[in-house]
Amino acid sequence: MKEEHNNIYSVFDELLQREDKQVLLKQRSKVIWMTGLSGSGKTTIAKYLERKLHDQGFLTQVLDGDNVRTGINNNLGFSEEDRTENIRRISEVSKLFLNCGVITINSFVSPTNAIRKQARDIIGKEDFLEIFIDTPLEVCESRDVKGLYAKARKGEIKDFTGISAPFEKPDNAVLTVQTKNKTIEESGEELLQFILKKINI
Ligand code: ADX
Repeated sequence: MKEEHNNIYSVFDELLQREDKQVLLKQRSKVIWMTGLSGSGKTTIAKYLERKLHDQGFLTQVLDGDNVRTGINNNLGFSEEDRTENIRRISEVSKLFLNCGVITINSFVSPTNAIRKQARDIIGKEDFLEIFIDTPLEVCESRDVKGLYAKARKGEIKDFTGISAPFEKPDNAVLTVQTKNKTIEESGEELLQFILKKINI
């Protein structure tokens, strides 16, 4: 008998299992969750990591603001409530990839311990690899790649993380990567070596 819940029927007993897909892909799926300030280097490191993993035969999907906030989350802003919903949906999407055997490389500011706990609870702590991209605010602000810090300082963007909205350093990161005075290769390689141990079968 299938379990009935509000007219939703579970079909999980009929579906192929995550294990079947991991064997097919010859990898262990994980969610690589990078947290850090805007401009800390998350997306740059994500691109580096994806290329390196791809070259070694791993199937990955990068999830970041560019492909999520313009699509599935295009109705969300930067209030605490919207950020929470942003991360909730991303976590659910990541879980689908996880169950499909795919490694996701996530780069979201995800600024508070509560928001990251929500992600960890949805994804499951075994599969959630919280990585702190630890770049000081002064460095992010001096890079100001998108010109957003200047706008935030002028009050043109409200609730800007690090300026007018909080960023809590993670309590539960499994790895902290610093980028100050390092090349992309150096920071990226640190993360790559850590990740390879987690995803190799
Ligand atoms: S999160 O807080 O909900 O995790 P997310 O990672 O999706 O944020 O989006 C952050 C990106 O949106 C930043 O890198 C920046 O480019 C842009 N952005 C625009 N407004 C804000 C804001 N008020 N606070 C932080 N980032 C903002």
